[in-house]
Amino acid sequence: MFAYPPVNYIEPVFRPPSEANSLILQVTNGCSWNNCTFCEMYTAPQKKFRPKSQSEIEEEIKRCSAALGNVRRIFLADGDAMALSFKRLKEILLAIRKYLPTVSRVSSYCLPRNLKNKSVEELAELHDLGLNLLYVGAESGNDFVLQAVEKGESFRTTADALIKIKQSGIKSSVMIINGLGGVTHSEQHAIDSARLANEVQPDYLATLVLYFQHTDQRLLESYPEFKMSSQRQLIEEMRIFISHLELKKTIFRSDHASNYLVLKGVLNKDKDKLLQMIEGALNQDSSIFLRSESLRGL
Ligand SMILES: C[S@@+](CC[C@H](N)C(=O)[O-])C[C@H]1O[C@@H](n2cnc3c(N)ncnc32)[C@H](O)[C@@H]1O
Ligand code: SF4
Repeated sequence: MFAYPPVNYIEPVFRPPSEANSLILQVTNGCSWNNCTFCEMYTAPQKKFRPKSQSEIEEEIKRCSAALGNVRRIFLADGDAMALSFKRLKEILLAIRKYLPTVSRVSSYCLPRNLKNKSVEELAELHDLGLNLLYVGAESGNDFVLQAVEKGESFRTTADALIKIKQSGIKSSVMIINGLGGVTHSEQHAIDSARLANEVQPDYLATLVLYFQHTDQRLLESYPEFKMSSQRQLIEEMRIFISHLELKKTIFRSDHASNYLVLKGVLNKDKDKLLQMIEGALNQDSSIFLRSESLRGL
């Protein structure tokens, strides 16, 4: 028995599906931007953005070392740990190296704006210290949609950040939200999101489906013409998105719990297979599994 839990989490804590086996180290609380009108993740009063102090983080790393031993992967939470300065991130990675030497992969969410004040050389140094993967919530490649949902980013700022990540040697995972353009901007959202992926050639690409646990009120205030797509319209949007992708070697997943239709493959190698599955889902082929509404979540 330990006197303290190894990490003092401020709930709720979110992580990408692929970090299910990682130690979640909460180096910041909340999201430094927190303005995207579709995002309910860090809106609770206790989730106001705050970086944790280096001493707090080191204490938690030491406790994890004593309690857990062989940790292989770490995910730096919450919403955008990359909001921390280069110096702070370096200190955290050095502490992980010192107290948890078995860690082989550190990853984090990353907003494009968090990289503005970090050079490619600094990112390469963080990569050398173990930062291997950044999850970037591009959400859309369409500037109208990005502005309507108050993402605070554009096609260009997102593409530039992803190119910087690639130049540093860090891998990138891009998230796109199926349905974010609503009914009116579905097609352009799909085409421009594919164009973004084609320009940056990410290592990983994932689609989530727009989902509200509580309310879509903030989204409707910032984007009054927004009308939620039906399940069929969402799948048709995926058909447009995937058919416009021109990727050399990107691992694609739509297996997040928000998705109705689970698609997995390497693109473009598996493009035809994925498009056939989409056709099957649209033709109500009973061999294509669609997640029920009650099993969806974030
Ligand atoms: C915890 S957020 C952190 C990502 C990081 N802050 C960023 O914006 O790059 C993870 C991702 O969840 C997705 N997300 C947030 N709200 C969502 C919603 N209402 N429906 C579907 N996906 C959502 C977005 O793709 C977002 O980038
Ligand atoms: S999507 Fe990312 S940047 Fe936007 S509010 Fe949510 S956590 Fe913050």
